[in-house]
Order: sequence, then structure tokens, then C-alpha cells
Amino acid sequence: MSAPNKSYDPVEVETLKPEEIERMRDEALAAFAAADSLDALHEAKVAQTGPASPLALANREIGALPPHAKAEAGKRVGQARGAVNKALAARQVELEAERDARVLVEEAVDVTLPYDRVPSGARHPLTTMMERVADVFVAMGYEVAEGPEAEAEWFNFDALNFLPDHPARQMQDTFFVQGPKGTEESGSGVVLRTHTSPVQARALLDRELPVYIVCPGRVFRTDELDATHTPVFHQIELLAIDEGLTMADLKGTLDHMVQALFGADMKTRLRPNYFPFTEPSAEMDMLCYVCKGESIGNPDRPCRTCSSEGWIELGGCGMVNPRVLTACGVDPEKYSGFAFGFGIERMLMFRHNVEDMRDMVEGDVRFTRPFGMEI
Ligand code: DAH
Repeated sequence: MSAPNKSYDPVEVETLKPEEIERMRDEALAAFAAADSLDALHEAKVAQTGPASPLALANREIGALPPHAKAEAGKRVGQARGAVNKALAARQVELEAERDARVLVEEAVDVTLPYDRVPSGARHPLTTMMERVADVFVAMGYEVAEGPEAEAEWFNFDALNFLPDHPARQMQDTFFVQGPKGTEESGSGVVLRTHTSPVQARALLDRELPVYIVCPGRVFRTDELDATHTPVFHQIELLAIDEGLTMADLKGTLDHMVQALFGADMKTRLRPNYFPFTEPSAEMDMLCYVCKGESIGNPDRPCRTCSSEGWIELGGCGMVNPRVLTACGVDPEKYSGFAFGFGIERMLMFRHNVEDMRDMVEGDVRFTRPFGMEI
């Protein structure tokens, strides 16, 4: 084994010569300066500071130096590496700032551009109004019931005690889908239902007693479309059949409905009328929710909503005729009940000052949108 070379001069280790170390440092600094992206800088970093970089290799050489030469070479390499790391960090900060500035420009969003070219629609106020009314009764325990729009003449008329010569059965009021009664083998023609009342008969035949149902639906009559008529419109029907129901229950139910829909100080009144399927029958009015009756006989306070009558006509009602109960297999000695029905279009007209019914059927979103996205 040969003795250590005492006169070993670090200068002789090529990679540790001062000018070599300087060259490596300058080469690294130049590489960082030339890196024009963060990716390029990362590559330069691996090449200039990684384990296989010239300075790392030079650093490894120091170990082979004699003790007296190690300190100086170590200092030189250490300073060079320090300068390289500093330059790397500075370039990193620079390139990151450049990238951030670029992203801000490239990914900028012009918030003044139209955000949505498809305008959002709104549910039709007839639908929301029907649901709103039905909800009042659902909250009281009523069930929502439905029936067909093309209805057997028997359900639309006969079961409801309309006699064969009742004027409503005439062709000029009713859309017949299949010939009037008697001309078909079935003995019952088919009509587009003229009201939601046939659902009363269907419910009594289908369900166990007691029956408490609310029925919103579309009905049809041979009217011309004009400002106050439409051949297709909507009604809400109510039917309650139980033991011991009286007209007081009917009145209380109506009052509750108008209070729930129009405010706590509302009430209804009944005026005698005739419907074949109720006995006694009544026309129901509600207090005008705008003037609360104050316009009656008061020229200083005219009311457009009720034409200063103080009351607004809502629909028909009454105690279900025992003949209807019998036709539907219900014992009128044991059960009694009440019914009412009214038009939704009319309610929408006075509640929202809609002046022309045609606006409700034409499907123009400019009509529905102001009612908003009520759910
Ligand atoms: N069905 C009647 C109509 O369309 C309204 C009506 C009146 C319904 C009295 C009822 C009622 O339930 O009891 O004109």
C-alpha cells in the first residue's frame, strides 16, 4: 500500500480549480436565466443542482482531498452552490409571477357578457294557483283526486242529477266526443267534462267512506275565446261526505279557505241558488280582499276589484243532493256532506288584475314571468 501523497495540491484536482468552480457556477446561472418557463427551470434545476450536477460531483471530490486542502475547496464549492441556489430561487419567483400575470389575462372572464341567452321561464300562474288552493285542503287532511277529461256523460250529468232535458246537456254548451246519450250502444255518450263535479261521483264509487277530496282539473265548454271566456279552463272541486256534516261545516270550510288564501280578516257569504247535485244550493261570494266591503255605498272609496260591490262571486256550493249519494251507492240516511266548485281563471283575474283571459292561454312568457318562480 502506498503512503498518502503529502504534497497533494488541490489545484491539481481539475474539477476543484477555482476557475472550474466559477465556470460551473456561471453555467448554472446562465441556465437559470435562459429558462423561460417553470418547466424549463425545473429541468435546469435538476441539471445544475441535482446529484449528477457538476457542482455536486465537484463537492464529492472534496472528500478525497488532504485535510489541509478540504476547507478551502469546501468553502469555494459551498459559495458557488449557495449562489446557484439563490439564483434558482430568484428565477423561480420571477417565473411564477410571470405565470400568474399571464393566467390572469388568459383566463379572465368578461363579467359584462350576457351570462345566459336562454331566459329562464316561470310556472304558469294557473298551475301555482291550483296547487296553492289544493294545499289549503291537503293541510286539513283532504286527498287530491283526479278524473278523466274525456268523461262518460253519465258521470258528467246523470250521476249528478242533471235530467235528460237539462239545458247544460245541449250540444251548444258541451263538447260531445261520442254521441249524446241514447245514440250509443253503451247508453252513455262521452263528453269533454264540463266541470270537475263528476269527480265527486267517481270518488264516492271508488273510495271508502268518509270521503274528503279536493279535485283540481281542466274543464271544457263550447265558448268562444274572448276577454272573459275560454273553451278550456280550470276548476277546483271539493267534496266532503261523512256522518253528521251540516251546512255549518260548509260555511266554516269556505271561510277557512278564503282566510288561508287572502288573509285572516276574510269571510264568505252564501246566496240561494240552484244546482241539480246540491240541495240546498248556494252561490258563494267572498269579501272583496281589497276594500273589505268598505266600498259598498261609499262613493268616496270606489273599488275596481269588486266594482264597489264589496263582495266577489267565487263559485257554487251546497249540501250534496241525496239523489247523488243514492246514485253512487251511499246511504243518504246515514251520510251527508257538502261540495263546492269554482273557476281558477276568474280567481286569477281578480287576484292579479288580469284583464284579458286570452293572456292566460296564449303561452307568452311575458305573461307568466312576472309571477316569478313560485313553487
Ligand atoms: N260544477 C258547477 C259549475 O261548473 C260548480 C259547482 C256548483 C260545483 C255547486 C259544486 C257545487 O261542487 O256544489 O258551474
